Amino acid sequence: MRILTGIQPSGKLHWGNYFGAMKSMFDLQEKGDIFMFIANYHAMTTVRDGAALREQTRDVALDYLACGLNPDKAVIYRQSDVPEVQELAWFLSCLTPMGLLERCHSYKDKMAHGFDATHGLFAYPVLMAADILMMNADLVPVGKDQKQHLEVTRDLAQKFNNAFGEIFKLPDAYIPDSVATIPGTDGQKMSKSYRNTIGLFEDAKAIKKKVMAIVTDSTPMEEPKEPEGNSIYELYKLFATPEEVAEMAANFRAGGYGYGHAKKALLEAYHRLFDPFRARREELAKDPDTLEDILKAGAVKARAAAAGTMEKVRAAVGL
Ligand code: ADP
Ligand code: TRP
Repeated sequence: MRILTGIQPSGKLHWGNYFGAMKSMFDLQEKGDIFMFIANYHAMTTVRDGAALREQTRDVALDYLACGLNPDKAVIYRQSDVPEVQELAWFLSCLTPMGLLERCHSYKDKMAHGFDATHGLFAYPVLMAADILMMNADLVPVGKDQKQHLEVTRDLAQKFNNAFGEIFKLPDAYIPDSVATIPGTDGQKMSKSYRNTIGLFEDAKAIKKKVMAIVTDSTPMEEPKEPEGNSIYELYKLFATPEEVAEMAANFRAGGYGYGHAKKALLEAYHRLFDPFRARREELAKDPDTLEDILKAGAVKARAAAAGTMEKVRAAVGL
């Protein structure tokens, strides 16, 4: 089984990215062969600074390797190291109804947030379909907000197969039930567009400040509180063991337990999980040549897979 996912290097990765997208992929590492790529072409829809794009691309690679991606088992590569995806995106574009893209929420959402209405943003799901179909992926772990893009991918694969013969597999999205929408410091969905994120590797002081500033209601400390739906409790569930979660819930319901206590517990649980990742990241960051070697080795494998697909696809379309 081939498992593929991509992530845009369009800013620093945050808790929402880790629990919404990265972790489910690490969990799948033993179950199939993993292709993980850094979607730097996609990030060009919003990033207009070459140096920043290069640095953010490197940062995403470091984050993934530090948090548990094993380059001996998984193929990790930069999207732009497989330029064949642009060619495939064109082939798919020629079969893509405008209405299909007009219905995509993520485009409408970007418009609502004031992004320029570029062709790149509009055609984004077609390039994403090319990423996935190129590598013959069976399963694509993504957050809920990407579900519609997977539907577009299946639709385009079907259209291509109908026109040119059975070439593409129809991939499935992998969105475990346990992966909820992770709340940000203001209680909305954590997202860099809402400036409510807590970064995976921000410095410890900044993380503490953000955790302590998570918005809560003003129920006094002594009063019992319902934990479900509370952002701190929802975030704690991600980091803590089931026993610890049950204990926090009981504490909230009993009263005499304030949001300050819960924030402290959350911070401790974050450090328990992330301090070892942080140490590994610092080591990796000291050795840029090794990182480059890992990405280049990944690109060789990814391009070999792409060459196999493109040979069939070019022949089928008549090139
Ligand atoms: P952002 O919303 O910060 O721009 P992206 O759209 O780049 O994040 O998301 C990258 C991946 O992380 C996607 O698969 C997305 O579904 C997942 N993700 C991002 N934020 C969250 C969140 N708050 N909850 C769950 N998953 C998330
Ligand atoms: N659109 C995805 C996101 O914003 C990133 C992405 C690009 C992707 N190509 C992909 C994810 C292919 C999975 C498969 O999160």
